[in-house]
Amino acid sequence: MLNNAIRFQSVEELERALRAHSYLPQRGLATALFLALAIEKPLLLEGEAGVGKTEAAKALARSLGARLIRLQCYEGLDVGHAVYEWNYARQLLHIRAAQEGSVSDEELFGPDFLISRPLLEAIGSSDPVVLLIDEIDRADDEFEAFLLEVLSDFQITIPEIGTISARRRPTVLLTSNRTRELHDALKRRCLFHWITHPTLEREVEIVRLRVPGVSERLAAEAAAFVGRLRELDLAKGPGVAETIDWANALWALGCVELDATIVEQTLGSVLKHYEDFELVRDDTVMELVREARAIAATAVG
Ligand SMILES: Nc1ncnc2c1ncn2[C@@H]1O[C@H](COP(=O)(O)OP(=O)(O)OP(=O)(O)O)[C@@H](O)[C@H]1O
Ligand SMILES: [Mg+2]
Repeated sequence: MLNNAIRFQSVEELERALRAHSYLPQRGLATALFLALAIEKPLLLEGEAGVGKTEAAKALARSLGARLIRLQCYEGLDVGHAVYEWNYARQLLHIRAAQEGSVSDEELFGPDFLISRPLLEAIGSSDPVVLLIDEIDRADDEFEAFLLEVLSDFQITIPEIGTISARRRPTVLLTSNRTRELHDALKRRCLFHWITHPTLEREVEIVRLRVPGVSERLAAEAAAFVGRLRELDLAKGPGVAETIDWANALWALGCVELDATIVEQTLGSVLKHYEDFELVRDDTVMELVREARAIAATAVG
């Protein structure tokens, strides 16, 4: 095995390292991350908003002691922002200096005049790097096509210079919220893992990790309530991020257990669509609170 892979002998070892860096993965995700390291293949993570896709990459970088290089994708993202740009100001100065005869007319389109953006930086790094290409579904088709060379050969071709190959293969993680379907060509170059919402036990653990001091009972009731919400036909089901925010809010208000009044007052931490508030109110809230408390009591005793 090469590079990063040797750091972890097993999935369990990687899982322990991620936990030590405040990320509690389900076994499937830990296995996918382990394989991405072991066979040095990019990993595409998909899942609903707030399930921990971006954080998985950050935690992996921390666990490896690697630098995280993040490329946030958006519509219109181009090579100049993602890969490299020519340093025109420097080229201009150089042309002037060459005209005055103070420097030689060195190659103007050489490495010295290149500004590295995240992808080139990752490929050119001799230190261990985790490259996070975040929300690739927001980028245009052209950019996705451009990525194919990077993902399959870990190299970038710059017409004026030639092909630059990775000095050391970065660990590449891509995330997508599936606002559009990605192309098969890109998927073929990646391992794939769909991050699901965590189990109740795991979500309680995450809340307790992220909301210092929160009581186990409140963490369990909040997680159980959110779990029930996810079963409803909502415009946007809450992610782990919302459960954490909500538990934080409840704990800040001095709440030790759920009741319908406090839930109604704080539901804005969990639901972000007006239609969802319309659906979850009055009797429904009371019913969900009852159910959540019963589920939590069974789960944590
Ligand atoms: N397994 C986990 N262990 C610890 N914390 C987690 C876990 N999953 C999610 N979180 C927490 O939830 C928050 C949201 O996670 P993250 O931002 O990675 O979600 P995402 O899937 O990238 O969402 P989006 O699609 O909106 O970008 C993070 O700040 C992190 O604290
Ligand atoms: Mg994200």
